[in-house]
Amino acid sequence: MTDRELYERAVAVAERAYAPYSRFLVGAVVLARDGRTVEGVNVENAAYPLGVCAERVALSRAVTDGLKPGDLEAIAITASPCGGCRQWLAEFKLDRVVYKDNHGEIVTRTPDDLLPDSFVL
Ligand code: THU
Repeated sequence: MTDRELYERAVAVAERAYAPYSRFLVGAVVLARDGRTVEGVNVENAAYPLGVCAERVALSRAVTDGLKPGDLEAIAITASPCGGCRQWLAEFKLDRVVYKDNHGEIVTRTPDDLLPDSFVL
């Protein structure tokens, strides 16, 4: 699957987001090294801070399916990942992060591009 195809999957998935408060629908699709894909959407809550971002949902679902940091090749996200999600992307050691940047362009970056010198334990 090309990065562009992965991104188009994320666009399709975004329709299923639960975002009644912000009305900002986000989709994310993870591509595992074994070819599996895992989808995520943002899920909001009336208690606003409890909402979760699409990429964290996709990554959490990937872990639930038995995938671990290092098993994931790429992720596509329909928005520029927030600061907290950048730390998650660093944790999972993805090769590529494909997303629509703030100029509306589809770009491919590494987790290190997005969060240099990220925190490690
Ligand atoms: N959102 C994501 O799903 N991913 C990001 O990286 C940026 C923000 C969601 C969270 C919230 O539901 C909505 O976008 C508006 O902030």
